Amino acid sequence: MGPAAVAVLIILCGAAAEARVPAGHLATRRRDSVPAGVGACALAVAPFGYPCEEHTVTTVDGYILSLQRIPRGRRASGGGGAGQPVLLQHGVLTDGMTWLLSSPEESLAYILADSGFDVWVANNRGTRWSSRHVSLDSSSRRYWDWSWDDLVVNDMPSLVDYIYSHTEQKPHFLGHSMGTLVALAAFSEGRTVDKLKSAALLTPVAYLSHMTTPLGILLAKAFVGELITILGVAEFNPVTPAVASLFKELCRHPGTNCYDLLTDFTGKNYCLNSSAVDVFLQYEPQPTSTKTMVHLAQTFRDGVLSKYDYVWPGVNVEKYGQPDPPAYNMSNIPAGFPLFLSYGGRDELADPGDVGRLLGDLRGHDPGRLTVQYLEQFAHADFVIGTCAKDYVYNHVVSFFNRFN
Ligand SMILES: *[C@@H]1O[C@H](CO)[C@@H](O)[C@H](O)[C@H]1NC(C)=O
Ligand SMILES: *[C@@H]1O[C@H](CO)[C@@H](O)[C@H](O)[C@H]1NC(C)=O
Repeated sequence: MGPAAVAVLIILCGAAAEARVPAGHLATRRRDSVPAGVGACALAVAPFGYPCEEHTVTTVDGYILSLQRIPRGRRASGGGGAGQPVLLQHGVLTDGMTWLLSSPEESLAYILADSGFDVWVANNRGTRWSSRHVSLDSSSRRYWDWSWDDLVVNDMPSLVDYIYSHTEQKPHFLGHSMGTLVALAAFSEGRTVDKLKSAALLTPVAYLSHMTTPLGILLAKAFVGELITILGVAEFNPVTPAVASLFKELCRHPGTNCYDLLTDFTGKNYCLNSSAVDVFLQYEPQPTSTKTMVHLAQTFRDGVLSKYDYVWPGVNVEKYGQPDPPAYNMSNIPAGFPLFLSYGGRDELADPGDVGRLLGDLRGHDPGRLTVQYLEQFAHADFVIGTCAKDYVYNHVVSFFNRFN
């Protein structure tokens, strides 16, 4: 995989490095570098001395998702589950490891556990530890026939229900990037809002019209028109040759210098530690479905947030009963639902202009239940693996959750 693909990953999953991104990691990494049968608990959590349980949740449509539970902090004693549950939802092309790799002083999952919360880490369908299905094999096309709409309808409600039934408490929700998009879409349809205490949304994404990254724009154009044709309804795995060669093609596009782009995307995050980025890139990126990438590209292109567009009106009518895909309306999010939004001035994915539009949709929200934090110097990855995220963001998340316990 060349620098172009790395740049794309930086755009899409926010894995931007302050220095040079170690492309060699991506080129040489094999997914089987994680021993078979080893889960995130054993790999990432136990070494830091935290208790950790592996759970699985089966969605209505048969996907078997893995969840890691850190029921309490390192120094807490006694049985788990006494604290308030929190569900952590990662973004696109990453998985739950996102929250677990930095030190206990820096990773949100450990900070929450040490603050008395019962932490549950989600892993999207198709990622390393959530690649099973009751009847489909993950090498089959049918396994990958879903877009992020399916996460709204199936995965998020299944995860919330599972945690509720296990702990008998309503969880708080925290999402990053596409994790916020799925949550906002779900809330706008009244899904899970009555089963959650509150939601904290880091780098909230509802609109992508202002996404300024030139390669992102180019990709979005290519995704909409061509990607399904090139790759079909399939897995979108950045480390496979099919996707890597697609990126190579895009870099030949006039006016696109992928090397310059890579430089453009470095140095913008505020407090990334390059050795933390190194560790991150040992486990990420993770695959998603091509339909999800196309759906994100449609959001960018169309400037509205809608369900997946099958393009042919006849197919949309068959799926939705109307020729255009139905919109998700952010104004429909219940006004009394506690929301915490944190976004960065240098974020080129969750661009401040697009977040501003979302805030416009939320203007009818109960002001006592909407906390908005703007961090001018922060970019997309700072919110997840930034060494200063605790001071700037996570401490505020902890107080917000405590307010609505
Ligand atoms: C970066 O991370 C490494 C490894 O965790 C650590 O030793 C180092 O002190 C960190 N540097 C900064 C500036 O936080
Ligand atoms: C969204 O809903 C609000 C009221 O609930 C309505 O005023 C607005 O027109 C809707 N927006 C769209 C794009 O349908």
